[in-house]
Order: sequence, then C-alpha cells, then structure tokens
Amino acid sequence: MKIFLDSANLEEIEKVLKLGIASGITTNPTIIAQEPKTDYLTHVKKIVELCKRYKQEVPLSIEVFQTDPEKMVAQAKEFVEKLNYSNLNIKIPIGWAELGVIKELNKNNIKVNCTCGIKEAQAVLAASVDAEYFSLFCGRIRDLGVDPFLVISNVRKLLEGTNTKLIIGSIRQEKDITDSFLAGADIVTVPFKFLEKMAIHPKTTETIDQFISDFHKWMGQ
Ligand code: E4P
Repeated sequence: MKIFLDSANLEEIEKVLKLGIASGITTNPTIIAQEPKTDYLTHVKKIVELCKRYKQEVPLSIEVFQTDPEKMVAQAKEFVEKLNYSNLNIKIPIGWAELGVIKELNKNNIKVNCTCGIKEAQAVLAASVDAEYFSLFCGRIRDLGVDPFLVISNVRKLLEGTNTKLIIGSIRQEKDITDSFLAGADIVTVPFKFLEKMAIHPKTTETIDQFISDFHKWMGQ
C-alpha cells in the first residue's frame, strides 16, 4: 500500500517531501497546466531538483504530450535524456498504437506508466506489454455510472502474477482513497487537499484537546 502525490505544484511537493509521506509523484498535462506558464521540462526539472534536494528520488511520472506514436517515443527519450532522473516513469495513455510505443520504450529500458485506464481489458493489454504501472481513473469511471471499486477489484485479480503495478488516480473525495486500497490498489495517487484531510477528524481534535486540558487541570495550571 503506497500513497503517491498527484500534483505538479512545487509548494505541495515540497511539503510532502519534507514530511516524507508520499512514495511517488504523478503529473499529467492538465496538472502541469495549472502551474505558472513556462516550458514543460523547465517545470519538471524543478520537481526533480526538489526530490534530489530532499534525497527522495521517488518514482516520478510525467506524461508525453505528443500524440503521433513515433513522436511519443522521441519525446519520451528526450524527457529521459534531459531530466537525468533515475526514477522517471513516462506516462503513455492506453491505446492501440500506444502499445507499440510502450514496447519500444521497454526496449530502451524506459519505464512506462500506462495511463488513462477506464476498463479491465485495458489493464490486460498494459500488462501484456509489461508496463511498470497501470493507472486506472476512479472518478472518471464513476462519471460513467460504473462502480469504480468493482473495476479496481477486477483489475487487481487480472494483474495478479504480472509485473504491472496498479495505480488508482482521479480521486474525487477522501473516501475514494481507502476504498481504492480496500478494492486492491497497490498505489493511490492523491491530490494534496485530500492528503491533508486524511489526518484530521473532529473527534480526534476534541480528544486531543480534552487530554491536554485534563492534564493542565491536574497540574494545577
Ligand atoms: C493520475 O495519474 C492522474 O494524474 C489523475 O489522477 C487524473 O485524474 P482527473 O480525473 O482528476 O483528471
């Protein structure tokens, strides 16, 4: 059971690295586009620098934004070369031609996070081309009126005995995180706002306040 941070925001990334609570970082073009406009790799390099500064070279997933298969391969190679980060995973969306892209990247020892998964059959294909990770999108599955946790538990069974690890993304509420793990996720990638929420419960706060106040009374303060 591992938690990744789903963010390209430098402040959020620094906060989780400081605490050491995320075992990896995932981004996508939409997430990068929420940050101040700059060159794509310039921004990703800042994430890499942060990971190195905090001595946490955790798995970092960045997605290609080319759509032609040959250009996707070239762009993935360019990312690997220019970023020089030992734990880089290139996100390739699942698709027919994209399976060839994943194969080609494997040949070049480039690890792939096969992303944008919605259904079980896509996981089977991702594992058949030996993707390092398969990313399945909880919230977007629910948008279709389908139970995401049933899909997650089916994918869990299908991936058993393969080398492909299951990441659940598209988290829309705190409960999605625990439900995804219960359904069989290896990893859940979580937006920062939900990570913070996970630690807090009003009854916990009330309990801590009571403990401190009772102790102060006993001490005569
Ligand atoms: C996961 O790797 C993706 O970055 C992300 O979770 C996609 O989720 P969305 O549905 O919020 O776009």
